[in-house]
Amino acid sequence: MTETKTSAAIESVLTEERVFHTPAGFSEAIGGAYVESMEDYERQYQRSIDDPEGFWGEAASEFDWMRPWDRVLEWNCPDAKWFVGGQTNICHNCVDRQVDQGHGDEVAIIWEGEPMDGAPEVRTFTYRELRDEVSRCANALKKLGVKKGDIVTIYLGMVPELAVAMLACARIGAAHSVIFGGFSAQAIADRVEDARSRFLITGDGAWRRGSVVPLKENVDQALEMTDHVEHVLVLKRIGNDVDWKDGRDHWWHDVVDGESTECPCEPVDSEHMLFLLYTSGSTGKPKGIIHTTGGYMVYAALTARTVFNLVPDRGQVYWCTADIGWVTGHSYIVYGVLPNRVPTFMFEGAPNHPDPGRFWDVVERHKVTQFYTAPTAIRAFMKWGDEHVEKHDLSSLKVLGTVGEPINPEAWMWYHKKIGGERCPIVDTWWQTETGGHMITPLPGATPTVPGSCTRPFFGIDAVIVDEHGEEQPLGSGGLLAIRSPWPAMLRGIYGDRERFVDTYWKRIKGMYFAGDGARRDERGNFWIMGRVDDVINVSGHRLGTMEVESALVSHEAVVEAAVVGMPHEIKGTGIAAFCTLEPSRKPADAEATKALIKELRQHVGVEIGAIAKPDVIRFTDAMPKTRSGKIMRRLLRDIAAGVEREQDMSTLEDKNVLAQLRGES
Ligand code: PRX
Repeated sequence: MTETKTSAAIESVLTEERVFHTPAGFSEAIGGAYVESMEDYERQYQRSIDDPEGFWGEAASEFDWMRPWDRVLEWNCPDAKWFVGGQTNICHNCVDRQVDQGHGDEVAIIWEGEPMDGAPEVRTFTYRELRDEVSRCANALKKLGVKKGDIVTIYLGMVPELAVAMLACARIGAAHSVIFGGFSAQAIADRVEDARSRFLITGDGAWRRGSVVPLKENVDQALEMTDHVEHVLVLKRIGNDVDWKDGRDHWWHDVVDGESTECPCEPVDSEHMLFLLYTSGSTGKPKGIIHTTGGYMVYAALTARTVFNLVPDRGQVYWCTADIGWVTGHSYIVYGVLPNRVPTFMFEGAPNHPDPGRFWDVVERHKVTQFYTAPTAIRAFMKWGDEHVEKHDLSSLKVLGTVGEPINPEAWMWYHKKIGGERCPIVDTWWQTETGGHMITPLPGATPTVPGSCTRPFFGIDAVIVDEHGEEQPLGSGGLLAIRSPWPAMLRGIYGDRERFVDTYWKRIKGMYFAGDGARRDERGNFWIMGRVDDVINVSGHRLGTMEVESALVSHEAVVEAAVVGMPHEIKGTGIAAFCTLEPSRKPADAEATKALIKELRQHVGVEIGAIAKPDVIRFTDAMPKTRSGKIMRRLLRDIAAGVEREQDMSTLEDKNVLAQLRGES
């Protein structure tokens, strides 16, 4: 590592003094707050820490288990087993259980498509319809040869069939590995290869801001690079022409639609793998984070219920705007919401298509009650102008959420006033792909909120700020964020890489989970996340490793060496700045050629990883700023990228001429 973030940034957030208490009338409006006060929170929190097995055993007992567990927790750091000996099925608990309990005709999923030529395309699924569709899909998967324990890769846009496919895998005990539809063929190939996945589910294409993402074409290209995949199930969403490989490719409507709706849920062990989700780290290729069934199921559902105050039978409609390709969509569109019997709203489109009022139009038409999005989106809305918001009736909203990156107090205040009408608590939820669910977050109705702080740990989460040696830091001082004891949805490993799992999360601070974030806890006990302390960046709330982007750049024949750092970005929070040295023969002769090469390199990164990884700024230099021992001075690059011209210690910089070039002065 790793230089910790500048103290100026830390100070600026800690001067925030505004505190927002639960708005009057909130509890009645939401159908009763689950946690009514801070006293109630403190009491339940203390109990969850003092008696985790009692607390989580109770939480788990409302689910159906095909075999009860023998022990709630077996903890042998870093290995946790939850609900040991128990057998269950998460698909059953999300879907069939609702039908069995007499709620089969209630709405489980509401979906709206992106195109808006005429009336919007809306589909709804009751729990019974969802059960039938999932069963058909599960039967089709079985016929293609999918067995318990197999890993099925899913690469789709935001269509209901994505949720159906995930639940179908879970139903038969197969694990899924969902890949965000914005990733490239190369990224698909890497993930398929790592998971040795023999089955893939995709679509002919996906809508994105009025144009078509060629999903099938990307898959075809990916499968040229890896030969594990035997069967590809293809959903027709767009109707565009696609290449076809007989024997390998199967249309969804040919193999799913005619299947039987009888497909019993397979009982699986509580620790049976539910899904893999690839995420970026400091080094190397993205890692497959392993989540298992029982603990994840209980934790995702309890956090969703408590943090968003989901109450059935009160006309609530919950909308999380994330893509299911990220963990937020896994936990808070699908697995955490369905068990709570509040309709989960899925949206295919972008916030500004066909115009920047689209989200608010959706909120108004569907009477959305809980709304969960990323700070990046909020900043974009602020920029697009209040008129797009003011046109719409947002009075249905009751709870607002944010996730993925620190929220700046200005964006928080705008969200609070313009979207929440000053009557909706904002839950700023800190968590990660690895944690499976919310870790530090306000609870609406109880926690006083402060713009920019994610406030207090969720039940059972023993979060601490420590120094490099694992020493707990006093309130008010910054350090590393760590979790001292296991929680049910924690990752169980990195697929195929035990050593990396241990090294990344458990070595740095002995006996604790190291999150990779710097943070501080203030005198009120509130946590403030300062951002990553490793080489991971959050671009628009999407997680990328700087090294991944560097590898993509040097895989281009013109680039010899690349250094990538994050830089402040008005909308994205963090943008990507790349510094490259070039092959002598590829050095651009003039401004025109420089522009063309930058364009080519951005394109190249898009092909290697996906559009989200394209650098915002690329600068060419004859040499990298390095210390005498040859290490790239990343901190210096970060400052240059941020345009910071402050005094700094440059005594270790080998070649001072480099500096002027990096700043674009020569
Ligand atoms: O740096 C933190 C940031 O996002 C990282 C986790 O990214 P990912 O695994 O992609 O999961 C994102 C969605 C859960 C964290 O290490 N992060 C997430 N939520 C917040 C946040 N930073 C500040 N405030 C948050 N609420």
